[in-house]
Amino acid sequence: MKMIIAYVNPEKLWELKRRLFEIRAPGLSVDNFMGIGKPLAKHREMMEKYGAIPKFFPKTRVEVVAPDSQVEEIVNAILDVCKTGHPGDGKIFILPVEDAIRIRTGEKGEEAL
Ligand SMILES: Nc1ncnc2c1ncn2[C@@H]1O[C@H](COP(=O)(O)OP(=O)(O)OP(=O)(O)O)[C@@H](O)[C@H]1O
Ligand SMILES: [Mg+2]
Repeated sequence: MKMIIAYVNPEKLWELKRRLFEIRAPGLSVDNFMGIGKPLAKHREMMEKYGAIPKFFPKTRVEVVAPDSQVEEIVNAILDVCKTGHPGDGKIFILPVEDAIRIRTGEKGEEAL
């Protein structure tokens, strides 16, 4: 199992949710917050020249824990919905997940997803 964490543009959330359930993603957690990515060259120059620090931008974090076999499909769906080619499109991280437990039933591992 893997946890896919995507930091995306909040405007993409509703389309992304629809797409993820179309491809039968097992579940979804979402949170809105502020983030900073890699400063653009221009920002880096400003930082060096004036000591300015980069601005926060509103982002949505989408987390999906999925079986290994579904990870590629989920990542492709996120790329397809969220890629505009402009700075701030977001970033995806993929983390190993050791175990999962469904509290109501006691099911474990992929069965719990
Ligand atoms: N290394 C990181 N660690 C934690 N969060 C990150 C990291 N990089 C990006 N993020 C999160 O992802 C959000 C989106 O990042 P963003 O799309 O701006 O990435 P970028 O590397 O600056 O690429 P781009 O050049 O396309 O803007 C950030 O606002 C931040 O919340
Ligand atoms: Mg950026």
